[in-house]
This record gives sequence, C-alpha cells and structure tokens, in this order.
Amino acid sequence: MTIQLLTAAVLTTFALLAQSATAAGSSSSSKRDSNLVERGKYLVKISGCNDCHTPGYMPADGHVPLRLWLTGSAV
Ligand code: HEC
Repeated sequence: MTIQLLTAAVLTTFALLAQSATAAGSSSSSKRDSNLVERGKYLVKISGCNDCHTPGYMPADGHVPLRLWLTGSAV
C-alpha cells in the first residue's frame, strides 16, 4: 500500500467517524462543530500522530502547546 493510499484510508476513516458523530450530535450546528473539533483532537491524541508529527512531543511527555501540534518534526 502506498503512503498516499494509506493517507486516503486514514482521512476517509476520520471523515466517516466525523459523519457518525454529526448524525448522533445535537441540533445546534455550532455545538456540533465544536464536538467535531474535540473529537478530531481526541483521535489525533490517542492514535499517537503527535509522537512523530509534533516537534518535541515525546520528550516533553505531551506537554506541547496545541498550536504546535502536527506542525512537523525531524523524526
Ligand atoms: C511512527 C511515527 C509516525 C506516527 C505515529 C504517525 N506518522 Fe504520519 N508520517 C510519519 C513519517 C515518517 C511520514 C513521512 C513518510 C514519507 O513520506 O516517507 C509520515 C507522513 C504522514 C502523512 C503524509 C503522507 C504523504 O502522502 O506524504 C500524513 C497525512 C500523516 N503522516 C498522517 C498521520 C496521522 C493522521 C497519524 C496518526 C493517526 C500519523 N501520521 C502518525 C511518521 C508517523
């Protein structure tokens, strides 16, 4: 599997998860949007993306400001 296919698979999974979260969400769209952002943040956190894609994440034991998340790292 090429990395592009892998990326497409990951993004599709997240999109499907986001859709099901939307379907199960409340009627307020702004609340739904912030739920999606929280859900995405949670998924990125638990699936370890920051370990390789955020500078200094592992040495700092995850204590890196959110604005630096996924900004790239020379792993
Ligand atoms: C073990 C370290 C590691 C983890 C954990 C990791 N990545 Fe990566 N990721 C890499 C490396 C290394 C590359 C660059 C691969 C290359 O292009 O040779 C990469 C590339 C990517 C790319 C670009 C692919 C492309 O087509 O160029 C995306 C998007 C990506 N990662 C998303 C994620 C997501 C989302 C997660 C969490 C689910 C994640 N990564 C977790 C190491 C990691």
